[in-house]
Amino acid sequence: MSDFAEIILDGKSYKMPIVVGTEDEKAIDINNLRSESGYITLDSGYKNTGATESAITFLDGEEGILRYRGYPIEQLAEQSSFIEVAYLLIYGKLPTEEELEVFTNEIKIHTLVNEDMRKILDGFPSTAHPMGILSALISSLTAFYPESLNPNQSKDEVNLTIIRLMAKLPTIAAWSYKNSIGHPVNYPKNKLDYCSNFLHMMFAYPTEDYQIDPVVVKALNKLLILHADHEQNCSTSTVRLVGSANASLYSSVSAGISALWGPLHGGANQAVIEMLEQIKADGGDSKKFIAKAKDKDDPFRLMGFGHRVYKNFDPRATIIKKAADEVLTALGVNDPILDIAKELEEAALTDQYFVDRKLYPNVDFYSGIIYRALGIPTDMFTVMFALGRLPGWIAQWKEMREQKEPIGRPRQVYVGEKERNYIPMNQR
Ligand code: CMC
Repeated sequence: MSDFAEIILDGKSYKMPIVVGTEDEKAIDINNLRSESGYITLDSGYKNTGATESAITFLDGEEGILRYRGYPIEQLAEQSSFIEVAYLLIYGKLPTEEELEVFTNEIKIHTLVNEDMRKILDGFPSTAHPMGILSALISSLTAFYPESLNPNQSKDEVNLTIIRLMAKLPTIAAWSYKNSIGHPVNYPKNKLDYCSNFLHMMFAYPTEDYQIDPVVVKALNKLLILHADHEQNCSTSTVRLVGSANASLYSSVSAGISALWGPLHGGANQAVIEMLEQIKADGGDSKKFIAKAKDKDDPFRLMGFGHRVYKNFDPRATIIKKAADEVLTALGVNDPILDIAKELEEAALTDQYFVDRKLYPNVDFYSGIIYRALGIPTDMFTVMFALGRLPGWIAQWKEMREQKEPIGRPRQVYVGEKERNYIPMNQR
């Protein structure tokens, strides 16, 4: 293998170093290309651009491999807990029993949010989407912890912000739901584990006893683990980009939440269920919708299909599909949209259009089905994704800061008007 790439421009040769990752991933380092040749590279959507060297998550889209800090997602989903995976992502190693206990307890003592946050929450109309509320409230944490705005905080101070975020996001997420249905909010119960506490804040009512179902807790742990990180995707790149301007962790994560909200990214889990409902309401003919998805004049896309990086299968989808079957059986759920989902999946997987473009069901095709079975309302699905992705965003932000990465600032090729003189209004 060569040590450099040779690029010939205007008859002159430029040598660019080759960078090789631990999994033999190869990249051409073009850092000096512009200063030496005047050329930039053009790659809309950053489909082929490495924005950083990262030691957090390894993903091979062709082989369907996903590993956090080297550990296969299949093993973590089966044997670990979400909090342990969060520790692994953020601090780079599996915790000892004692380290996990300290981390868990630190999170527990910070689960309350300032009562003034409820006033902000009260200001939102009932039509507000919980993702908008979540993004706004996470950003507003800077008002309660203004010291977090200092980009030169010590390691311990940054760690406190990390713990506060991990602790408060479930509380804020559950409160945004309670607020949207006009119910009183539930305060965290710190004797409960992370997932059980979230379920308590979401589903307990002052008028009834709420029993936490271990099947639901296990499924939730798995879902959150599967979503915990996915290297340089749209929301994570947003978190790193915003953080690269020395913005606080709260503001960076708030921006990540907004990016995740989009239906082409995390919003897809909500869009999948809405699509399945739409097909059901239309008479249940999945073939008609497959035809719509293939029609280039129709903006309709099969939500939950396709992925920017996975081109054979999404390993998270394989795990989640099995989990969906287990959860639905254990909870005795018989959901008619499940039949439509199965029909759609079968039809799409054998259709030449989808086969040619390597469009397979992604994680979000199934996650919405489980969330629905767990009783999570549709517009909270993407909030669940955010809850899972939080440790990944934190780990990526922390890595970006520790590597002292420069402010992110892409270039462009300008294709607008050349210089021209201003025309006064009466001459236009
Ligand atoms: N339905 C119909 N056609 C599709 C779909 C789809 N879901 N996805 C891609 N295509 C077609 C697309 O029209 C294009 O066709 P052609 O080559 O004839 O122009 C081709 O497949 C390649 O599509 P692309 O838009 O260039 O692919 P991309 O890598 O830019 O987009 C994607 C990836 C996930 C945005 C896209 O597949 C999509 O819109 N899927 C539906 C939304 C979705 O499920 N998103 C969740 C992703 S998983 C959660 C996460 O990690 O964020």
